[in-house]
Parts: sequence; structure tokens; C-alpha cells
Amino acid sequence: MHTDTLAIRPLEGCGALVEGIDAARATDAEIDAVRAAVYDRGVAFLHGAVLTPEAQIAFAKRIGPIVVNRYFPKTERYPEIAKVEKAEAQTTNIGGGWHTDHSYDTCPAMGSVLMAVVTPPTGGDTLFANMYAAYDALSDEMKAKIAPLKAHHASAHVFGEASVYAQTDRADLAGHKDTPEAIHPVVITHPGSGKKALYVNPSFTTGIVGMAPDEGRALLMELYAHAMQPRFHTRFSWAPGSIAIWDNRATWHFAMNDYQGHYRLMHRITLDGGPLS
Ligand code: OGA
Ligand code: MN
Repeated sequence: MHTDTLAIRPLEGCGALVEGIDAARATDAEIDAVRAAVYDRGVAFLHGAVLTPEAQIAFAKRIGPIVVNRYFPKTERYPEIAKVEKAEAQTTNIGGGWHTDHSYDTCPAMGSVLMAVVTPPTGGDTLFANMYAAYDALSDEMKAKIAPLKAHHASAHVFGEASVYAQTDRADLAGHKDTPEAIHPVVITHPGSGKKALYVNPSFTTGIVGMAPDEGRALLMELYAHAMQPRFHTRFSWAPGSIAIWDNRATWHFAMNDYQGHYRLMHRITLDGGPLS
């Protein structure tokens, strides 16, 4: 019985390690427990054998409905699976700064099921930051100050025609005409856990609604410096077959770029989300 061996161990900082599960043969109860761990801890980590595309798609669908990412290159035969890839000769990686995916969408993707396929000999870890814990640790004054605020999020500066990636050797990620923007509360209540989370991020948040740009930037910088404290973070080391299922509403992530000259390939499936409040 798989359910007899399942163990979910909360990690310091952020996330939970799931042990005793085979992603390709999980029971419904195990899937429910993994989803609950993702909602509660922001990210769940699994180690196992590399899944076939079909098996990864089947596993992801049991966690939540799949949505196709508009920016990342797709695997040849499976539009559901995006390739998060860095070639030996490329120097810029994908996601190499603190961010949460899709905050520029009106209904941001719920999260991702990211599986390592090829890992570099050393390095290539991913850092995760717990936005529930970051929110909880704010002062009462700061909580009161940000409670009514909304922030503006955009994608053009990252994925658009004259974007950050366009200036690098990852122009393959840039040049898009479809570059949405959205407004979300600075503090959201997670629809699955009922907990409050800080929902601004250094990559896609561009300002605070109703504040002068300088004032909004200063407030965002203060919130970012707070959330960047290592006490809210976990560092995940991948092996081929390792899976992270993260929740964009409750975490940030940061892909380390410390394996120059080596190849890294991840298969990512994006899970659909809804409006935030
Ligand atoms: C992503 C991402 C991190 C990594 O897929 O959204 O940021 O470690 N990836 O590859
Ligand atoms: Mn990302």
C-alpha cells in the first residue's frame, strides 16, 4: 500500500519533501496529500525516476488542470510540456532572478510541475521563498499599510520585443507581441489554504496602484528585502527525475546559474489558476 509509506516532511523555510511516493502510480489519497502540501507549504519536492512525457502529463493533470505556457519552447510532440533548457554554450538561464511565474496574467497560473531530465554535474539548484512566512513576519504597521494596496504586474520588459532576455543570448525567450499586464492585491488570500501571502515579486511587479513611481518602488524594495531573508528560503538540489510542484500564489523561485559550460534540461507543465483576491 503506497499510503502506508507516504511521508510529507515540512522543510525549514519553504516547502515539503514527499517521500514514499511513485508519481507514476500514486493513489488518489497520495495525490490529495501532495496537493494539500503544495497549498500549505508552497512547494512539494519528490525524487524518483524520470517520467515519460505521457506519465508527467497524467501526474500533473491529477494535481490540477494544465495550461500551455505562451513563452517557453515546447517539447516536439507534447504542447503541454515546456522545455526549460540551457545549452552548454548559453550563459543566461531561465528564471535566474527571484520571481513568481505568470503574475502578469489576470488569472495567474496556479503553479508548475517541473521535472529534471538532465542535470549538470554540480549546481543548477532552485531556491524557493515562502510568501506566507514572509507576510506573517511583517510588522503590524506594514501589514496595515499594505492591506488595501494593489500592485501592477507586467511581462513586456521580460518577454517583449526590447526585453531583458532580448539583450542576452536567450533572445529565443523574447520578441513576443502578446505581453499581458495585470493588477492584483499586494496581499492575497490563497484560495486553497485560506492563508495570507505577499503577492509582489522583483521580476514582474512594476508599481503600486495609486502611488507615485518612486514611492511605490521604495515600498516594493522594502518588501523584497524582507522576503529575501534566507530564513524564508529552501534550496532544492535536483537529480534526473526529481520533481518540484510549486504554487505561484505562495512562493517565489530563483534558478541558480552556476553551471556554465554544462547542459541542463527540465520538463515543465503549467497548472491553471483563477483570479486572486
Ligand atoms: C520556471 C523556472 C526554474 C528552474 O520553470 O518557471 O523558473 O530551476 N525554472 O529551472
Ligand atoms: Mn519561473
